[in-house]
Amino acid sequence: MSTVRVRPYTLADFNGLLDIQKEAFPPPFPEDLWWSRDQIEAHVMTFPEGALLAEENDVAVGSATSLLVTYDGKPHTWEEVADDGFIKRSHDPNGDSLYGIDLCVRPSYRGKGIAGALYEARKETVRKLGLKRFIAGCRIPNYHEYADKLTADQYVEAVQKGEIKDLVLTFMLKQGLRPLQVMPNYLEDEESLDYAILVEWRNDQL
Ligand SMILES: CC(C)(COP(=O)(O)OP(=O)(O)OC[C@H]1O[C@@H](n2cnc3c(N)ncnc32)[C@H](O)[C@@H]1OP(=O)(O)O)[C@@H](O)C(=O)NCCC(=O)NCCS
Repeated sequence: MSTVRVRPYTLADFNGLLDIQKEAFPPPFPEDLWWSRDQIEAHVMTFPEGALLAEENDVAVGSATSLLVTYDGKPHTWEEVADDGFIKRSHDPNGDSLYGIDLCVRPSYRGKGIAGALYEARKETVRKLGLKRFIAGCRIPNYHEYADKLTADQYVEAVQKGEIKDLVLTFMLKQGLRPLQVMPNYLEDEESLDYAILVEWRNDQL
């Protein structure tokens, strides 16, 4: 029987984390955005509560990384909020929101609730730390298939109505996250045409 376990990652997990990134973000996604050893070390040193690894039968199959921010509603880029993947300068220990900068599951392990388990752990962190919300810049990797007909806002509406399935946004909506705004030029991401959707889940215990 398969068992999924979510635990904090450490630098010793680097090879497993890199394997997940390579499979989950294949070309055209830029390779230089895959985690480096220095970035993983920085996550663990800066905010270990935000560094999560999912394992199935002791195999690394998914990961999620977050930091704390004070939410001000302003549009931003991934590079700004993630401090280019290092989180050292953007992490605010007194922040009111958990911000997700990474979520990935190896393709052969998808559709089995692994990302759902990582999201449960993120929600638990929001509750435990008494934060107001979880937020993230959500990729829309199927948008390029519709961009000649729909604006990014129209695309989000169609995904919300269930008319279009998006690999990431459909998953986020199922987790109870709601779209707040479309952010252009968020991240170099050919499939999403560099767009991301800021999505929010509010602490259900406040
Ligand atoms: C988004 C992602 C993390 C989901 O991981 P997962 O472990 O498959 O997710 P779960 O099994 O917990 O949830 C599956 C849900 O995701 C959605 N989903 C899964 N595969 C999908 C697909 N091929 N097309 C559309 N939606 C899909 C469905 O809503 C599904 O719900 P259902 O099982 O009720 O039908 C994974 O697809 C992934 O790693 N994508 C590439 C990396 C990425 O872009 N990450 C997001 C950064 S913002």
